Amino acid sequence: MQLDIKDLHVEAEDKEIIRGINLSIKQGEFHVIMGPNGSGKTTLCKTIMGYPKLKVKSGDIRVDGSSILKLPTDKRAKLGIFLEFQNPIEVEGLGFVNFLNTAKAAMSDTPVQFKEFMEDIKNSVKELHMKEDIVGRSLNYGLSGGEKKKTEILQMQVLKPKLVILDEPDSGLDVDAVKVVANAITEFQKKTNAGIILITHYSRILNYMNPQFVHVLHEGKIEKEGGRELVEDIEKKGYRLSE
Ligand SMILES: Nc1ncnc2c1ncn2[C@@H]1O[C@H](COP(=O)(O)OP(=O)(O)OP(=O)(O)O)[C@@H](O)[C@H]1O
Ligand SMILES: [Mg+2]
Repeated sequence: MQLDIKDLHVEAEDKEIIRGINLSIKQGEFHVIMGPNGSGKTTLCKTIMGYPKLKVKSGDIRVDGSSILKLPTDKRAKLGIFLEFQNPIEVEGLGFVNFLNTAKAAMSDTPVQFKEFMEDIKNSVKELHMKEDIVGRSLNYGLSGGEKKKTEILQMQVLKPKLVILDEPDSGLDVDAVKVVANAITEFQKKTNAGIILITHYSRILNYMNPQFVHVLHEGKIEKEGGRELVEDIEKKGYRLSE
């Protein structure tokens, strides 16, 4: 799958937040987006997924050449786009396995093999060093911040999307968990050749990963682009790169 974002302008409550972004992610590529708080990173992710409160004023988002702007979120998910939320929400009463099985069924053209599906979950729980009882609970209900972020990675592993958007997968993770999650994402990409967009504020998670492209967002625009050397620059100097 190839995603192309073309001169995208997006508004929330009549305020322009994304102000002309161009970005292409090809199958198997690994892109990192950094940028100060409030620069529009999460807004960009939500726009790609079709969050209804965001209005695309101009520009386009294309998957394999076709615009997806008119598609509702579930259709975009079915194309193979997955978003890990920066702040996953808790849904009491919605069983985690039930939720994930329903999502998997909605995205598959053939019936989900339940045994295989449960096996996938079990393997992910082990790989992510999670507590097994998480599986029997309501979606994210009562989980710690780090556990919630891992649950999102587990969803990615089970749903097997073609384009993965990870909105700060390292936020709230302890030092060991950052490594575990980084390795899980790398493994996933190796196995599936998915495209990845990873948003982060810190270089730590990237010490275990190999991003090819780094984009720095500032006030709704891409201000700077390069390779991973940009990450080290930002770590040293902050975002005032030109000074
Ligand atoms: N629905 C909305 N209504 C009004 N303003 C919004 C809405 N959504 C986002 N914004 C504003 O858009 C700006 C960008 O927000 P966004 O969440 O995309 O930032 P971010 O780059 O992800 O920041 P962070 O690093 O803190 O996660 C912020 O100033 C935010 O207040
Ligand atoms: Mg954000």
